Amino acid sequence: MAKDKTVFFCQSCGYQSPKWLGNCPSCNSWNSFVEERQVKAKASSWQQTGTRVSQAKPVLLQEVKQQQESRSGSGDQEFDRILGGGIVPGSLILLGGEPGIGKSTLMLQIAARSNGMRVLYVSGEESEQQIRMRADRIGIKNDQCFVLAETNLTRIFQHLGDIQPALLVVDSIQTLQTESVESSPGSVSQIRECTADLLRFAKESGTPVVLIGHITKDGQIAGPKILEHMVDVVLQFEGDRNHVYRLVRSVKNRFGSTAEIAIYQMQGEGLQEVENPSQVLLSHFDEPFSGIAISSVMEGVRPLMIESQALVSTAVYGTPQRSSTGFDLRRLNMLLAVIEKRCGFRLGQKDVFLNITGGIKVEDPAADLGVICAILSSGEDIPIPDKTCFAAEVGLSGEIRPVSRIEQRIAEAARLGYQQILVSAYGMKGLQKDKYPIRIIPIKKIEEGFTTLFG
Ligand code: TYD
Ligand code: MG
Repeated sequence: MAKDKTVFFCQSCGYQSPKWLGNCPSCNSWNSFVEERQVKAKASSWQQTGTRVSQAKPVLLQEVKQQQESRSGSGDQEFDRILGGGIVPGSLILLGGEPGIGKSTLMLQIAARSNGMRVLYVSGEESEQQIRMRADRIGIKNDQCFVLAETNLTRIFQHLGDIQPALLVVDSIQTLQTESVESSPGSVSQIRECTADLLRFAKESGTPVVLIGHITKDGQIAGPKILEHMVDVVLQFEGDRNHVYRLVRSVKNRFGSTAEIAIYQMQGEGLQEVENPSQVLLSHFDEPFSGIAISSVMEGVRPLMIESQALVSTAVYGTPQRSSTGFDLRRLNMLLAVIEKRCGFRLGQKDVFLNITGGIKVEDPAADLGVICAILSSGEDIPIPDKTCFAAEVGLSGEIRPVSRIEQRIAEAARLGYQQILVSAYGMKGLQKDKYPIRIIPIKKIEEGFTTLFG
């Protein structure tokens, strides 16, 4: 009898190797390889059920039937908005987040509250009774919401044929199991095979599918990043489990923009949409302090508002101290030299401390202007005007340089309730200033920024 072949998979990127490796050549992570038995595929679960609808044929692009974009509302406005205006038929959506953040709650409340939509909520983590208990807390309004505690994909597909839901929710992809792959649930090959099957199901039946996925500590969807490539939409649940506010961010969206975020508040009866997020996130700015500036930086493709705090004080020792947390010290020194030269600031006898709050490490040069303004604000002891933020790089001669994805940054700032944003005047081409409910202040030189803020 032929021996079963075994292969080694990197759990973090899905790289395949015939032998064990300590360091993944693809994603460079250490000790991430696990052995999995590879059995030549039986028909996949989706094929086994024999419900394949159509066989794809090559078609001329201009002959492809145009479809009216028919998104359906999920009943949750924030959720619809991050999807780009509702759920697209046949889309595969991945909702990732750390354990306990509220993924199951969010999806169950969409399932249980969206009136009249036929939903199948499959859970491999909770029993029907437990789901019912949670649903009672949230409030059941939908009389077409089915729940199923099942992990076997073939059986799930059989039920799908009977129920024919308008939305399928799978909680979570890591618990699913298909018989066509012989490894334990949660392993890379299981996750990949199950996702591929669900993808085929979604595309062929036109049923939107939401997959819930757990995230590892370093922020990756547990195990395979490959999932992110396969699905249409990746939503990330962020926020601190210990805080009431939760953020859902769209990381990838084939049918909409990734600039959107949704903010929820965890309450006794589920997640509540937060209508005015600026009040939530900026509440501590009611009383302005000097030395604080907000910048918009990109993390991957996502805009993020960060807070730089600077303290400028008279040096006690002969050599002034320069210290920074979360920001490159050499870059800080360079910016200080620019300030000294351009704004006539005598920093030679001053200690300068810089801190990026929240433990974030900033690499995006768009934080430059915010850092400079925080230092100037602390030096002058004048707070930066309320609800002001920054997004620009600063060059050696004090010129304000444009940064990438400025529209996305502006959209995020406007969405978070900021009232003015200082950007480079050189990056204004093609920018529709009136599109956003925020005052866009273009500046060319650092001196202009200084006079704008401090007069
Ligand atoms: P859960 O949605 O199960 O998180 P995940 O599926 O991402 O692991 O859990 C969310 C947390 O929220 C849980 O600790 C209990 C709490 N919670 C509330 O505070 N109010 C509620 O109405 C519900 C349903 C949960
Ligand atoms: Mg859960």
